[in-house]
Order: sequence, then structure tokens, then C-alpha cells
Amino acid sequence: MGELTVGSSVGVRLTWDYEPTDSRTGALYQRAKQMQWSVDDVDWRLPVEFGSPLPDDSAFAMTAFAASPLARRGRPAWDAFRWELQAWMVSQFLHGEQAAMVVASRLVEVMPDLESKFYATTQAVDEARHVEVFSRYLRTHVPHPYPVSEPLLLMLTDILGDPRWDVVALGMQIMVEALAMAAFRLAGNTFHDDLIKRITTLVARDEARHVSFGVLALGGLYDSMTSAERAEREDLVLESAALIRRRFLLADIWDRLEVPLREGTDFAAHHELMIAYRQAIFSRVGNALGQIGLLTPRVRTGLERLDLIRFTEGATR
Ligand SMILES: [Fe+2]
Ligand SMILES: [Fe+2]
Repeated sequence: MGELTVGSSVGVRLTWDYEPTDSRTGALYQRAKQMQWSVDDVDWRLPVEFGSPLPDDSAFAMTAFAASPLARRGRPAWDAFRWELQAWMVSQFLHGEQAAMVVASRLVEVMPDLESKFYATTQAVDEARHVEVFSRYLRTHVPHPYPVSEPLLLMLTDILGDPRWDVVALGMQIMVEALAMAAFRLAGNTFHDDLIKRITTLVARDEARHVSFGVLALGGLYDSMTSAERAEREDLVLESAALIRRRFLLADIWDRLEVPLREGTDFAAHHELMIAYRQAIFSRVGNALGQIGLLTPRVRTGLERLDLIRFTEGATR
């Protein structure tokens, strides 16, 4: 399936200050050690019949099916789409998890204080476990996993190549991790077997810590930046968000299902269900951006324009 090499030069930091300074990151580190689990804890005997007929979708989803380019092929085509969406999502999780593992180890190198370094080492172990668990699921149960989607590849290349630690943390801990966490939380509704639902529940617990770490590490940082520096971070958010939107037009799936690309992506871009799905997937990114003080007017406007966020009285939904 190929490989990716990203060149980057980072300032690796060591500190000789061993005095604890940040009790919240310290507490997160202690919790991370207590909450470790093993891939063998999962009950791998849970059955998965990939591609089997599915129970009726919600009325809203069935309306979407009727409006989709799959409608003329009949109901089995919708089930095929739902299974392919699951296979695609889990495949993208897997590729994202590997990048998260690499980034966590990068954060060990570049973060300034010891407690953040401690915490990031536990995250690297978490991410290794996530790579292990998703790749085992895909190898065992999914006949044709998907390669990394092009928009995700572009996003990871941008993030991994950046020498600034806060930009790496923003890209990965906020944009990628919070997105994944929301997707894991939606798994109960959007995935079709108990094994993957069990796996995503376990993984989501770890990801919640990772997002908290991102929020702790980045919170308050932007206040001390110049407006030019802050604008660069806003650019990263908006560029990543545009790539996320493009990724969720699902080109890879339309291609596999032999739906003309234009028809498939038009449906994904405009149907109410697909927009609501992207907004649900993006909701935690919006929350996390708010928590770190980066949901600036410019970012809000950009995200609204991408239809990833709607504001009701200032709250994300
Ligand atoms: Fe992860
Ligand atoms: Fe993570």
C-alpha cells in the first residue's frame, strides 16, 4: 500500500527541571497509566458478517437513500453503501492512528516541560494499540480495506512537516483527534457489528484523554501570540477543515461502488443527511477550538461557509 516520508527539522528539547509544575497534565498522565488495556481484552469471537443485509435505516436515512444515486439500484445498494462507509471509516481511522502514534512521539521530543513529555509517551502507547486493534479488525473481517484518502494524506503531510510544536499539536490533537472521537461516538449508529462498536468504545476513552491533553497544552497560548502568528494557526484550521469536508464527500466510496464521481459527490455535498453527518463528525473539533481560544470570528465564518458548523446563539451544535 506504499509509504509516506515527510522531511522535517524540529528542535528537540530536554529539561533539567524535574519539579512538577502542571498538576492537570500530571493527573492526566496518572490516569493514562491506570486506563491501559490490551487488544486481547476485546472479545474477538463477536461475529462480523461483512456485507450482510442490514436492518432498516432511520426514516431520515431512507429519504437520503431515495434521493441518492444508489436509489435506482434498489435497497441492497444502500446496505452495500453502509458497509463500505464503515470499511472506509475504519481504514481512515487506522491510517490516522498511525500518524497519531508518530506525532505523539514527536511531542515527547519537542514539548517544553517534563509532564507533557510524560503524558505524550503514554499517548504513543495508546496510539500503537489503536493501530494494532484497527488493523486486526480490518485484516480479519474486511475483504477490501481502503488506502489512505488523498485529503487525509495532504493533511497529515502538512502537519508532520511543520517544525512548530504547537502547530503539530493543533493539527493532530485537535483537528484529527477530536474528529476521530466524534466518529467513534457515532459508531453505535453508523457501524453494523458489535465487534467494531466495542473496539470504538474502548478507543474513544483513550481519545478523550488525547483531546484533553491538546486543550491543556494549547489553551491560552494564542493570547500571547502576535496577530500574524495567530493568523497562521487560523489558516491551518481552515485548510484542515476544507480537507476534512472534501474527505467526507466520499469520493473513494463512490469510486468503489461505480457511481459516477460527480453524482456521488454532489449528493454528499448537498443532501441534508450528509451535511448533518459532517456537522456531527466535526462538532467536537468546534468545541475543542472554542476551548483553546481559536474559534475566532474568522474561523467561525470559514467553518460556517464550509457547512461544518452552525451557530445557534453562539453555541456549536
Ligand atoms: Fe488513537
Ligand atoms: Fe489519539
